[in-house]
Amino acid sequence: MKLKVENLSCSYNGELVLNQLNMSVKDREFVSILGPSGCGKSTLLNILAGVLAPDEGSVYVDGVKINGLSPHFAYMPQQDLLMPWKTILENVTIYGAIHHNKKMVKKQAISNFKKFGLSGYENRYPKELSGGMRQRAAFLRTALCGADIMLLDEPFGALDVITRGVMQDWLQDIRSDLNRTAILVTHDIDEAIYLSDRVLILAGKPASFKKEIIIKADNRNREWLFRQRDLHREIYYYLKKF
Ligand SMILES: Nc1ncnc2c1ncn2[C@@H]1O[C@H](COP(=O)(O)OP(=O)(O)OP(=O)(O)O)[C@@H](O)[C@H]1O
Ligand SMILES: [Mg+2]
Repeated sequence: MKLKVENLSCSYNGELVLNQLNMSVKDREFVSILGPSGCGKSTLLNILAGVLAPDEGSVYVDGVKINGLSPHFAYMPQQDLLMPWKTILENVTIYGAIHHNKKMVKKQAISNFKKFGLSGYENRYPKELSGGMRQRAAFLRTALCGADIMLLDEPFGALDVITRGVMQDWLQDIRSDLNRTAILVTHDIDEAIYLSDRVLILAGKPASFKKEIIIKADNRNREWLFRQRDLHREIYYYLKKF
């Protein structure tokens, strides 16, 4: 197992939000988490990323217990946190700047601008980019940080339905290139179906995982996704139940 979460509990001001969560993710598996607003999805990612300490429980990567921040996780938080005073190139190489291998990360970044649909924008500022481009820049920054597990919190949540579709197609296309383990939090059932090997439903107060849906399909595309109506319906009713 790449990632293992054991009996994880977390509370805010004495109120339990996550209750005894258990979860395992295989190496290079893509797992989506769906669940009602406020159930604790971002809380879970914050704990995995090491920016929030749980009350109880443990996180293991490759069998080794993780305490706090760890180089295994690349986190793309719910808000795209591009720094408005820095260019796109400076923004996406920020982790390199922090970890002192700036030159290498810069080279790597430049070679990825095309794949991320950002070529020509290296020296522009975030305000000069569209919403979708900003999301791709935030995504590129997350991918460049070199970690083996990507934590993506509603990466396309703020986009219009067409742009979101384009971004999902793009992620579907580069998924095999990225070659990482990923945990995606989303409210979009189709996004979860399209991109995931497995979908988990987190619900309840305090929250725990209520359902697991395994999706086996190679060569997915939009047409394939349109045909997944029964699966969409099944997931919709699971979500509605909690
Ligand atoms: N820093 C905090 N202090 C106190 N309560 C918090 C804090 N962060 C989150 N909460 C509470 O914990 C619960 C879970 O919040 P969280 O942000 O994890 O939900 P979520 O599932 O990500 O929701 P959404 O889908 O709306 O992003 C909510 O009830 C929220 O009010
Ligand atoms: Mg959230």
